[in-house]
Amino acid sequence: MQAVDLDQIDLTGAVPEEETDRQYFFMAKARNYVQALADTLGRTPTCCVTTFGCQMNARDSEKLVGILEKVGYRIIDSEKADFVIFNTCTVRDNANQRVYGRLGELNGYKRRNPHMRIALCGCMMQEPAVIEKLRKSYGFIDLIFGTHNIFKFAELLCASFESKGMLIDIWKDTDQIVEDLPVERKYSFKSGINIMFGCNNFCSYCIVPYVRGRERSREPKDILREIEGLVADGVVEIMLLGQNVNSYGKNLDSPMTFSELLREIEKIEGLKRIRFMTSHPKDLSDELIQVMKESKKICRHLHLPLQSGSTKILTRMNRRYTKEQYLALAEKIRREIPDIAITTDIIVGFPGETPEDLEETIDVVKRVKFDNAFTFIYSKRTGTPAAAMEDQVPEEQVKVGFDRLLHVVQDTAREQVARCQGQIMDALIEEVNETDPTMVTGRLSNNTIVHVPGDVSMIGTIVKVSLDTCHGFYYIGHVAE
Ligand code: 5AD
Ligand code: SF4
Repeated sequence: MQAVDLDQIDLTGAVPEEETDRQYFFMAKARNYVQALADTLGRTPTCCVTTFGCQMNARDSEKLVGILEKVGYRIIDSEKADFVIFNTCTVRDNANQRVYGRLGELNGYKRRNPHMRIALCGCMMQEPAVIEKLRKSYGFIDLIFGTHNIFKFAELLCASFESKGMLIDIWKDTDQIVEDLPVERKYSFKSGINIMFGCNNFCSYCIVPYVRGRERSREPKDILREIEGLVADGVVEIMLLGQNVNSYGKNLDSPMTFSELLREIEKIEGLKRIRFMTSHPKDLSDELIQVMKESKKICRHLHLPLQSGSTKILTRMNRRYTKEQYLALAEKIRREIPDIAITTDIIVGFPGETPEDLEETIDVVKRVKFDNAFTFIYSKRTGTPAAAMEDQVPEEQVKVGFDRLLHVVQDTAREQVARCQGQIMDALIEEVNETDPTMVTGRLSNNTIVHVPGDVSMIGTIVKVSLDTCHGFYYIGHVAE
C-alpha cells in the first residue's frame, strides 16, 4: 500500500484524471469538509458503517472505513453517529427488508441530529426498483452509490457535502479495478483479499451476476503485492475472495489458473494460513486438489455449495453438474485430503422442487457428511430466470422440508466436528471469549472453533491446542504446550 500524505496534495490545482491519484485528491478535499463540520460540532465527527451480507461486502466496508478514517471521521459502532453508511446485500429478500426496517430507525436519529448524513451502498442499490422506492419514500438519505463505483467513495463524499438533497450515482457495470486505496482492517492478524469481482455463472435463482457484474480478475502481481504488504503489517491468515475463485485468471491478459495463483501465494514468507471462498463445483480442478494436498498453508476447509441434491433441480438452477458428479467430486476430495472439512450452501423450495427432490438433497448430505451447511429458503429475486418459473413451491411444503433438512444437516455436522476429539491441533487465536474473559477463542485449520483458557496477549498467534470436549459445533480445550 503506497502511503499518500494528504497534506502534500494541492487542492488549488486541477483534479487529477488518473485513478488512484484522483481519489486521494478528493480525500484531501473531503478532509476539509469534515474539519469544517468538526469546527461546527466542537468535536470530531463520528461515523458508523453497518455491513449486511457476505465477506465480499465486509471487505468493501473495510475500504470505506479506510477512507473515512483518512478524511477525519472517528469510527464508532453505534448508528447514533454523524454519518451512517449501510453497505447492503440483496441475495435474499429478507436482507432487503432488514435494511428498510433499519432505515426507519435512522430517520428518527437524523431528526434529532441535523448534521447527520446517511449513505447507502452495496448490492441492493444495483436494483432499479430499490432506487425508485428510496427516491420516493426515503427522502432523508443523502448519498446512494452502488458496487461498481465504490472506489469513487471519496469523490462522492465531496459531491454529497457540496449538494443538498439526495445524491444518487449508480453504474450498470464496470471493467475498472482501482488499486491502492486505503483500507482499515477489522482484525490486525487476518484479512480478506479480493482476487476477482463479479460472476458469469448465472445460476437461475441468483441476483449476484446482475448486481456485481461480469467476472474480472485482479492481476496476480497486485494480489501478491497486497498480501506481502499485509504480512509485513502483521497478517498471518488471508481469505481470498471471489464469487467463483475456481475460475480465477481466465480473463487476464496472460491467463493464470487459481491453482497457479495459490502456488505463488504459498511462497510468501511469514504468511501462515490461506483460505478462499467460494468454489463452484463445476470448476474445481484436480490441480487445485493437488495444490491443497501439497500445501502447508492452505487451510483444511473447502466451501463447496451444493444448492440441491436433485439433478432435475440442479439443471433448472443452471448449476451445470449432476448429483453424481457432486458426490464423485466430494469423494475424491475426501480421499485425497482426509482431514478436510467440507461445508456447503443449500436452497430449499426452488421452483418445481418436490419432497422427492428434497430427499435427494438429504441423501447427498448424509453421504458427503458436510462439516457445516448453510440452509436457505428460496427467495424470489426480480429479474432472475427462476422468478418467472411457474411452479413456485407452497410455503408450508418449504417449511416442512426446511426443518427436516436442518435436522439432518445438524446431525451430520455434529458427528463430523466430533471427529477431532482428543487431538492436538493448531489454532489461530482470534479474540477474547465474549462471555468468559478468562478464555480465548481460536479457529482450527478446518474452521472449527475452539475455546481455551488464555488472555488477550495470545490474539493473532497460532498455538497448539488439545481438543478436550466437543460441544456440538465447537470445542473446549487447553493450550497443549
Ligand atoms: N434464494 C435463496 N438462497 C439464495 N442464495 C443465492 N440466491 C438465493 C436465492 N434467490 C444462497 C445460495 C448461495 C448463498 C450465498 O446464498 O445458497 O450459495
Ligand atoms: Fe454478497 Fe451477494 Fe449479498 Fe452482494 S448480494 S452482499 S455479493 S451475498
